[in-house]
Amino acid sequence: MQRFLFFLGKGGVGKTTLSASLAEYLASEGKRVYISSLDPAHNLYDYFQQPPAEGVTEVRKGLYIEECSVEGHIRRLLEETSRRMKDTYRYLTVLNLEGMFDLLKHTPGMEEYGFISAIDEIYRRRSGLAEHLIVDMPPTGLSLRIFSMPLTTHRWIDSLVSLRRKILSRRREITHIKGRSYFGDAVAVDDEDDPVLRELSVEYRRAVEIEGLLKDRELSARVLVMNYDELSLKEAMLIIKDLKALHISVDYIVCNKAGLGRVDEKNLDELKDLSGDSIWVDIPYYGDVTTPREYALEIGEALCSMMNQ
Ligand SMILES: Nc1ncnc2c1ncn2[C@@H]1O[C@H](COP(=O)(O)OP(=O)(O)OP(=O)(O)O)[C@@H](O)[C@H]1O
Ligand SMILES: [Mg+2]
Repeated sequence: MQRFLFFLGKGGVGKTTLSASLAEYLASEGKRVYISSLDPAHNLYDYFQQPPAEGVTEVRKGLYIEECSVEGHIRRLLEETSRRMKDTYRYLTVLNLEGMFDLLKHTPGMEEYGFISAIDEIYRRRSGLAEHLIVDMPPTGLSLRIFSMPLTTHRWIDSLVSLRRKILSRRREITHIKGRSYFGDAVAVDDEDDPVLRELSVEYRRAVEIEGLLKDRELSARVLVMNYDELSLKEAMLIIKDLKALHISVDYIVCNKAGLGRVDEKNLDELKDLSGDSIWVDIPYYGDVTTPREYALEIGEALCSMMNQ
């Protein structure tokens, strides 16, 4: 079983139920498990009947849960960026980024960047807690944008680096004519002295690392949850196609609430063709209980054996 598991799928198909059941089962087997919800409409605390808390809560021995606040990540990201920009552009005396926070918070892409920062934190800061790290992902559209983010970031950084190199080269041309003192010591003219290029290379490395985490099939797996209904099946197709375009695999497909509803066989075959070598499993619909949590260990065991095939 891969160490990091990302649960994806249409709203209401059972992502939280299945990811939490797997976590409970693994913990019952004596493993240390961390589960996090990135869904803005959190319900992990409800599932585990816990009061909301900040940070990580150990619900029982070896089982850690956390609901990530993307807002908090965006705020910290902007504060950190502001601090680093002030360090980098020390020669600019008026740089009032705090005054622009409200505007920056709503910049396109910022929300996705907040999610990437949350995933980055799980990777760096929570890995030591547990052997298995499970992430209950947000609704499909947002999840797909999160998965595409590292690639977009690469491309952006590539363009910014070449733009920055052009600026530095112009500065060098000017120093040939006017002398090095023209810019003063605080302004870099060579690539290796430039703090902006350094910042860009830090961001580049971070994007490469997160991309590895999101797509490396040995380190992580993507678990797609669907039901036997046409809408969730169509959404499953969309997810597989979009991830494929990013060269990201869907490793497991879980048909949850099996026995409830049905789909056109033709569409199901099409999905099977599209999914290639993904491993499939059915989880039954537990209609006889008020909550499928009563079957958590059974569900978790079925998922675990699918993943250990
Ligand atoms: N196998 C199952 N049998 C019976 N009920 C189930 C099963 N799986 C999930 N449910 C129920 O379906 C509902 C939706 O499940 P859940 O909240 O896990 O879905 P979700 O994909 O996390 O939804 P959201 O997108 O809203 O976060 C819940 O009421 C849950 O108890
Ligand atoms: Mg959920």
